[in-house]
Amino acid sequence: MSADDEIVNPSHGPRFTDLLALAASRRQLLKLGAAGAALALFGRSGAAADAPAAAAAPAAALAGLPGFTAIATSTEDTVRVPPGYEWAVLTRWGDPVGAQAGQPRWRSDAGNDAAEQALQFGMHHDGMALFPLGTDGTRALLALNHEYVDHGLLFADGMDGWSAAKVAKSMAAHGVSVVELVQADGRWSVVSPSQYARRITAATPMRLAGPAAGHALLATAADPQAQTVLGTFNNCACGQTPWGTYLSCEENFNGYFARTAGEPTALEKRYGIREKSDYRWHEHEPRFDSALHPNEAHRFGWVVEIDPHDPAAVPVKRTALGRFKHENAAVTLAADGRVVVYLGDDQANEYLYRYVSKGRYAPGMARAAAGALLDDGTLSVAHFGADGHGEWRALVHGRDGLDAGNGFADQAEVLVKTRLAADVRGATKLDRTEWVAIHPGRAEVAVTLTNNSGRKSADAADPRAPNPHGHILRWRPDGADHAADGFAWEVFVLAGDPQAEDASARGNQPGLNAANTDAAFSSPDGLAFDARGLLWIETDVSTGKLWHPQLAPKQGAYQVFGNNQLLVANPDTGEIRRFLTGPVGCELTGIAFSPDLRTLFVNIQHPGEPLDANTEFNDPTAPQRWSQWPDGPGGGRPRSATLAIRRTDGGPVGS
Ligand code: FEO
Ligand code: CA
Ligand code: CA
Ligand code: CA
Repeated sequence: MSADDEIVNPSHGPRFTDLLALAASRRQLLKLGAAGAALALFGRSGAAADAPAAAAAPAAALAGLPGFTAIATSTEDTVRVPPGYEWAVLTRWGDPVGAQAGQPRWRSDAGNDAAEQALQFGMHHDGMALFPLGTDGTRALLALNHEYVDHGLLFADGMDGWSAAKVAKSMAAHGVSVVELVQADGRWSVVSPSQYARRITAATPMRLAGPAAGHALLATAADPQAQTVLGTFNNCACGQTPWGTYLSCEENFNGYFARTAGEPTALEKRYGIREKSDYRWHEHEPRFDSALHPNEAHRFGWVVEIDPHDPAAVPVKRTALGRFKHENAAVTLAADGRVVVYLGDDQANEYLYRYVSKGRYAPGMARAAAGALLDDGTLSVAHFGADGHGEWRALVHGRDGLDAGNGFADQAEVLVKTRLAADVRGATKLDRTEWVAIHPGRAEVAVTLTNNSGRKSADAADPRAPNPHGHILRWRPDGADHAADGFAWEVFVLAGDPQAEDASARGNQPGLNAANTDAAFSSPDGLAFDARGLLWIETDVSTGKLWHPQLAPKQGAYQVFGNNQLLVANPDTGEIRRFLTGPVGCELTGIAFSPDLRTLFVNIQHPGEPLDANTEFNDPTAPQRWSQWPDGPGGGRPRSATLAIRRTDGGPVGS
């Protein structure tokens, strides 16, 4: 038996000898051992002892799934899917969203101006959600985030002559698109024009709600009452409420602000606001200069609720859900109908959060009334105990040191400074929480921790230091109630390269060894359960790690994974299979299913990603591989896009 064979998924049982060997100290060994003991709570049967009886049904239905042939890794500039599947492009950056008749056409030289861009899909698709219209399965709304832009791709004349017009186009390429879809013969397309279609950008007015609305920390010269913010940006992943609205999550908002005079404050430093901003919006929009408008940044880093069914509805920033670098917002209901939202803060050594509403959701509630459930509740932060039991620690003003003496005058200040409040509560520093996914059939939740190459010492929930390839945790709330104070947790899988010399980089995907890398992956990011309980995993290995010549000595550690990919895990057996490989330089983002599971929607984000966002398109001296996807040779620039994937025989995807 080789050393590789001994690295097994800890969830399979107590054989985690090699994993233990990674720990540097006896204290570490004890922590990992204790974490391992918790695994018995999960087993691989799929049914926890305390899970409701109904939970057994999806687990039984999963036998034999997934049912497709895993595909090999790829470094080609195209999308690959298993035999018997096909993909089509549904939306691309620059295509009209259908918000009006006589729509501006896409110009392949990126020559569209800001006003045209504001009627077209933005750049760099990320989270998305599907909202069925009617009951016959042929119509739906799609809400879709445009996380950020590469300026070197966005303008026909590149970065020459930075101007207000360029800032306006950059802002118009951010935000969210809402479009109407129609299905015929199993194939979906965008309805254009449509009464529902709209673009929300970095300039769209939106309302502040919850404890921080109206607070002095959010008051600006333009909005002294702290009620109305212009825009949303760096909308990463998302959520979907039971009442039919979309939650769009503001992630790396800090990068759009520059403090051009004086030192950044301690709070600004904690959130990453610096003297400079690569986006350069502040040069023409002074509100992004923190030296001039120090409170403007307090109006970003929130979760935004959008009603896709009403194009006139004003988006709402729900401040009760906290201010940090939000990844997604996974929504479910507690046993008594309270709304529960799980939220990750994607930065190394930051935290995982949960919100529980005070009021209860009742089916049939009007969307506006139900949305207010997100304004009054308790935000908590996760502590993962080494004994395999975790707890949610509430961030409530006046309790547990969250008081004026520690810099929190009221609940609004707790929320504006969420990270600092979580510090006070002794939360567990994690390896970059990306998406949280909630099992549809039982009280079980999973989260991707994408990587943390800078981790210096391991702990139970982050068992590798450094952690170049990331892992996935999962937990079950006590009493199968998402509002419970505690949970049982385990490591679901450690991602990695089975051929790595360093054991800490190998990973423990089931069935993997040095000769069989079929399920190798790194840097899990997007994560979603489908209605059957299969867990879909999207990867985001950074382009620099894959292709930058200066990183050549390290490339061997990453090129085994090929281009970024989509995999499927059976959470009951631990089996993982590769389902899709993307084009050069892309990341897989966003995931949604048609209600009949016959179409899977995913996003290809930043194909041909420049290593520097301001690198001019096709610069022959740039060190990265350029992409021609999806338009092909002569098509112009690479474009982020939504894929619609189906089985050629029309059957359920993944079965
Ligand atoms: Fe936008 Fe953490 O990914
Ligand atoms: Ca992500
Ligand atoms: Ca990522
Ligand atoms: Ca990304």
